[in-house]
Amino acid sequence: MQPFGRHGRCWLAAVSSHPGRGSFSGGDVRLERGVAPLPPHRPDRRFPRMGGNGPATIDQRRAACTLLARNEEVGVMADESVLKVLGISGSLRKGSYNSAALRAAQELAPAGMTIDIFDRIGELPLYDDDVRQQGFPPSAEALRDAIRGADALLFATPEYNYSISGVLKNAIDWASRPPEQPFAGKPIGIMGASGGVLGTARAQYHLRQCFIFLDGRVLNRPEVFIGGAPQKFDADGRLTDEGTRKIMGEMLQGLADWTNLLKRGAATS
Ligand SMILES: Cc1cc2nc3c(=O)[nH]c(=O)nc-3n(C[C@H](O)[C@H](O)[C@H](O)COP(=O)(O)O)c2cc1C
Repeated sequence: MQPFGRHGRCWLAAVSSHPGRGSFSGGDVRLERGVAPLPPHRPDRRFPRMGGNGPATIDQRRAACTLLARNEEVGVMADESVLKVLGISGSLRKGSYNSAALRAAQELAPAGMTIDIFDRIGELPLYDDDVRQQGFPPSAEALRDAIRGADALLFATPEYNYSISGVLKNAIDWASRPPEQPFAGKPIGIMGASGGVLGTARAQYHLRQCFIFLDGRVLNRPEVFIGGAPQKFDADGRLTDEGTRKIMGEMLQGLADWTNLLKRGAATS
């Protein structure tokens, strides 16, 4: 992303909701910013592409640009510069190594990335298409909304019988149904922890396969396979293994780069 307010003038435009595109919200209006030359000063003129509730005149837009630039100078990051990642663990277990791996990821996230954990997949009923056709249950709506609101997703999957856990598959099934299934075009990072030596490799490849159908954009590498999990976390669930912390940090940086790349592609297409 272009540094804002330093290397060019900014533009702001009201945009429709577009998953995966950086934006910040101001009440009902979503604003996008970028770098573009400002037109001649015509305070009376309304911008043709500014609809509805956006800053309507050039003066208002200049003021909004100035505010953003000032925020940047004093170190306040606008929402757009923060990558919001939604973490989902495929285990409901209190002492879950996968949930602990997500907490480690929160610690290891690169600058400019925040990771919120969605911890409600245990509330989802078993998927039933008859129920779905009557309307999504609130827990499924909450999951779909959380996915839509995230710039990227981060899954920590256990391996159950060489595949992903039933609760994780159930969550994906609920979230994936029309209208507007929220995985399409979404950047996705995957990791997993198990007691076995392969560290959920088989489950992770099943998870990747789900996102082929759902058109998710899964980061290829680095892959994070946390085998022998009981030896890599301490009694409080803290990831203590240095090698794993390093590769997880690299994967998170990779997810940030991948997400920004996709955002830039969406902005120019
Ligand atoms: C139903 C079930 C099936 C499992 N199958 C596998 C498996 O295929 N491969 C493996 O490495 N571990 C397997 N395990 C062990 C899990 O990897 C281990 O329990 C792990 O800690 C689960 O993740 P969690 O700590 O996040 O709950 C299985 C565990 C359960 C309960």
